[in-house]
Amino acid sequence: MVKKKVVIVGGTGYLGQHLLETLSNTQTTSFYDVAFTYHSTPPHTLLQSLPHFSSFPIDLHSGHGFDSISTTFGQPDVVVNCAALSVPRACEADPAAAMSINVPTSLVKWMLNFKEKNTLLIHLSTDQVYEGIKSFYREEDKTLAVNTYGRSKVEAEKFILANCSNYAILRSSIIYGPQTLSPVPKSLPIQWIDGVLSKGNKVDFFYDEFRCPIYVKDVVAIILALTTRWVTDDTPMQLLLNLGGPDRVSRVQMAETVADSRGYDKSLINPVSASSVDRGVNSPPDISMDISKLVKTLNICPTSYKDGVKLTLTIR
Ligand SMILES: NC(=O)c1ccc[n+]([C@@H]2O[C@H](COP(=O)([O-])OP(=O)(O)OC[C@H]3O[C@@H](n4cnc5c(N)ncnc54)[C@H](OP(=O)(O)O)[C@@H]3O)[C@@H](O)[C@H]2O)c1
Repeated sequence: MVKKKVVIVGGTGYLGQHLLETLSNTQTTSFYDVAFTYHSTPPHTLLQSLPHFSSFPIDLHSGHGFDSISTTFGQPDVVVNCAALSVPRACEADPAAAMSINVPTSLVKWMLNFKEKNTLLIHLSTDQVYEGIKSFYREEDKTLAVNTYGRSKVEAEKFILANCSNYAILRSSIIYGPQTLSPVPKSLPIQWIDGVLSKGNKVDFFYDEFRCPIYVKDVVAIILALTTRWVTDDTPMQLLLNLGGPDRVSRVQMAETVADSRGYDKSLINPVSASSVDRGVNSPPDISMDISKLVKTLNICPTSYKDGVKLTLTIR
């Protein structure tokens, strides 16, 4: 059997590394040849754990590096785009960089040059494409981002819709779970809550900001299900899916679940309004999502927030 080729763009990031870790298990290595890209630093630690994967430096801003993937690794059957300027405050500080990295112009142009025009693009978008003034957004609701990060992701979606014929766009909520093989520099949500509550100090949490956090291994399973669907059915897809967990939770509820799981005193959680704090970037209040299309399309049942927190705090 000829192995299918998968390229993870942004393989050194939080989601990218979790995907690579799952793809490295013996069951999937017999189906897929995997390559991944990095940007800032050569991924020495990651390659020690995953020596059988090829890695390529690329810059989404200039497009440098993509051609050497085609020359050395070959044309991929599936490209998963996990690369982004993913911190909203960083996007607000440098809107030009946010647009040039988050709108995958150079990536899509590279894919449009392939001889076989049927590579599947799985692209990570965000719940922050929504304005955040109601609960349980559906995919057909209007997008109206309130910050640069969200606006760059709306532009990215429009660009893919206009230029690609085989794609799945995943509008992800907060992705949480265990640390990666090579620890990422950014702070992880559950580990951060655990860290501040473990010190025994009272900490502010918003009672009026709602999200549908999704467990990282569910995100990985969803991406692999889409990959399998394409390589087995050979039918191009044009999918736009909300990607969230089954629970709509406030930041206070997120912290309370961690406190319950660890046995911390819940009076350490001080509920405050999000409007009382200037975070240097607008944050949509309620971007909870209706995930029924995701569940129906892929026949999956994402992990509850409570179980996901338990798993996060017990693994690694
Ligand atoms: N994590 C979440 O909670 C969450 C929630 C909603 C949506 N998302 C979306 O899901 C995707 C994955 O998120 P993540 O948390 O895994 O992101 P992440 O940890 O911030 O990783 C970002 C990746 O992008 C690469 N990158 C940055 N600038 C680049 C450039 N100029 N050219 C090429 N690559 C570049 C980084 O490479 P280097 O590390 O080598 O520099 C890294 O591999 C992103 O699209 C993000 O917006 C994430």
